[in-house]
Amino acid sequence: MASNGHEQQNYHIGYKEDTLKAFELRNATTCLGYLLPTLESLPPTFTLLDVGCGPGSITFDLARRFPKAKIIGLDLGKEVVERNNANIPTYAPGTGIEFRAGNVLEPESFLSPEERSGYFDVVHEHATLICIPNNIQVLRTMKELARQDGGIVACREGDTHSQILWPPCPESAELQERIYEMNGLDTQTGRKLLAKALEVGFRRDQITASASVLSNITAPERELYAGSMITMLADETSQYRRAASKFGYTEEQVEVLRNNMRRMIAADDGWRLCICTEVICRLGP
Ligand SMILES: C[S@@+](CC[C@H](N)C(=O)[O-])C[C@H]1O[C@@H](n2cnc3c(N)ncnc32)[C@H](O)[C@@H]1O
Repeated sequence: MASNGHEQQNYHIGYKEDTLKAFELRNATTCLGYLLPTLESLPPTFTLLDVGCGPGSITFDLARRFPKAKIIGLDLGKEVVERNNANIPTYAPGTGIEFRAGNVLEPESFLSPEERSGYFDVVHEHATLICIPNNIQVLRTMKELARQDGGIVACREGDTHSQILWPPCPESAELQERIYEMNGLDTQTGRKLLAKALEVGFRRDQITASASVLSNITAPERELYAGSMITMLADETSQYRRAASKFGYTEEQVEVLRNNMRRMIAADDGWRLCICTEVICRLGP
């Protein structure tokens, strides 16, 4: 695997049930407004690879909307992939969806030779690039896996810096920043998304760029987001907790982090907003 000095050891957020539930707030309506009109214009049997699908709530929603499409959700986490495959009869019965475990940078580990040669009409990712070191290689791989004559690479990404929390949680933001940096992750992936698409060889006239906001605003949304952070902070084995120890946080400092999240849950005026950038890149002339 190509390296920028930080090869991916694991996925720093982890797969605790509370975390998966917080991600499950995401679906095609809330996250893929930029891409849905393009998908609707494709033949209904299109092929789509969802890179880093996590708990698959976006992937399932796509399968329900486009039941004739062949949709593969890929994730590094074997346990989350097993969970998703077990959920197919409940969330997307009778559709062309399946989930596979693998590393996007090693396509031979999860795709057949036919599927590796420009097979996908759409190669999509949502909030995955920011979780992988040297993510320009991921974008390059996505480009290779898309159909070379008219295929699409579609990405939606945020920055850690483009996140707004109210009530303010500066200590939580600082720890998050340090964890991403410790893992060699590009915390400015969102703002550099267009630059990265150009770097892997898309021309500017092949790219449609836009932006929108990912949010946790209602009480249940805040509860899921902040609750999952509280669970991570309670788990001595989580990366957040281990990083806090590594950086020398005292028990009092960890309690400040927990209280930030408790305050966010309780605050009627609270919200978490994250500016997301979006690109639709078209291959071909
Ligand atoms: C922040 S989650 C996003 C999940 C989903 N796309 C969503 O927005 O709800 C990032 C996901 O990328 C997966 N991931 C990280 N590195 C990966 C890799 N090298 N190959 C495949 N998946 C990876 C993680 O396991 C995790 O589930």
